[in-house]
Amino acid sequence: MAERGAHDAVSIIAAKRDGRELAPAQIDWVVDAFTRGIVADEQMSALAMAIYFRGMTRDEVRHWTDAMIASGKRMDFSGIGRPTVDKHSTGGVGDKITLPLAPLVAACGASVPQLSGRGLGHTGGTLDKLESIPGWQADLGADDMVDILADPKIGAVVCAAGADLAPADKRLYALRDVTGTVESIPLIASSIMSKKIAEGTGALILDVKVGAGAFMKQRDDACELAQTMVELGAGAGLHTVALLTAMDAPLGRTAGNALEVREAVEVLAGGGPADIVELTLALAREMLDAAGLSHVDPEAALRDGRAMDRWRSMITAQGGDPKADLPVARHNEVVYAETDGVVTALDAMDVGVAAWKLGAGRTVQGEKVQAAAGVELHAKPGDRVRAESPLATLHTDSPERMNVARAALADAWTVRDETSVNAAPLVIERIGPGRG
Ligand code: URA
Repeated sequence: MAERGAHDAVSIIAAKRDGRELAPAQIDWVVDAFTRGIVADEQMSALAMAIYFRGMTRDEVRHWTDAMIASGKRMDFSGIGRPTVDKHSTGGVGDKITLPLAPLVAACGASVPQLSGRGLGHTGGTLDKLESIPGWQADLGADDMVDILADPKIGAVVCAAGADLAPADKRLYALRDVTGTVESIPLIASSIMSKKIAEGTGALILDVKVGAGAFMKQRDDACELAQTMVELGAGAGLHTVALLTAMDAPLGRTAGNALEVREAVEVLAGGGPADIVELTLALAREMLDAAGLSHVDPEAALRDGRAMDRWRSMITAQGGDPKADLPVARHNEVVYAETDGVVTALDAMDVGVAAWKLGAGRTVQGEKVQAAAGVELHAKPGDRVRAESPLATLHTDSPERMNVARAALADAWTVRDETSVNAAPLVIERIGPGRG
């Protein structure tokens, strides 16, 4: 299958397998040939596995990212007349931050072009969440996207990336997903940054998750991922800042599509869980700073309803009805505590897996998700519980899924006979150029 000439896939795979650094020309060739179908899926999978084990130098990651950008088109928002700034999270459980954040930042004067993805496995996808709103459409043409971003009453868009944005990444990500090669720092960094650089945003804030429910379980690995992405951004002239944030316990009190939209709307209405509010404001401040709007106070825009107004116009612009009732699951079951005490830990991965198994996530690409499925948490770290008090409510349209979700949650809560727990910080570290 490999095209013979100056390069061939087998020698490139063997070079990386043996721990050698790939030359820029080898990287350009293999990414381009893969995009054109000349390098076969099994060869690219083997190369991804070799990269997983051998890693890449920063130069290799930079060339790999450039090659993935060059596999498609670049977008351009320079004509919209407002600074553009995007946020990307590396993925966690209950992470609905984009939902309040995009309209909040738009309400403060920046435009937010947020190309988002769908969930696979235990992490939810922003598009799946928004699709639980009746009528809402994830697919927008580039011209519609620019019109919404330029509209002074909207200014925020959350939509699917078009097929021509970093197509090499789309094909490679699908292979990594089924070959155990997702959790590789160079592959994650190049995957995320190729899309963000091609998207053409003026600035980028990364929310790099660390902990039980994240790709990166260790702080050192999360730091290296963040530093790699910040460098890739800077190298491409994109102002990039990363916040390392905790993903040991789920964010907020819900994991699931409509359940998370409901919680995001509570935040926009001035309420909602404290951790969601804290992280939304921390990311909003970074985004506004990166957009040259550090003098604008996002907390005021959340409090006085401006962010909620933007949410409504943003949802309406994409065909959704912000006043419509959200879907409700046909079946509920409650999980109860077995002992008295204080919740000292709640495993985000277990909660993510339970929500996924209830139908909120998919096992294979393209599968339909249940809008109403998921887990509603009644007890999180720091909460006092008594034996028989409710820990969570499980929601699904398929009652046969309840047992597997219960099994996933069997060891999720750690309850100890203590008086309190020390709350760990949500924002752990900031990586990137200083604030303006
Ligand atoms: N998100 C991406 O877009 N790519 C990865 O590799 C991991 C998370």
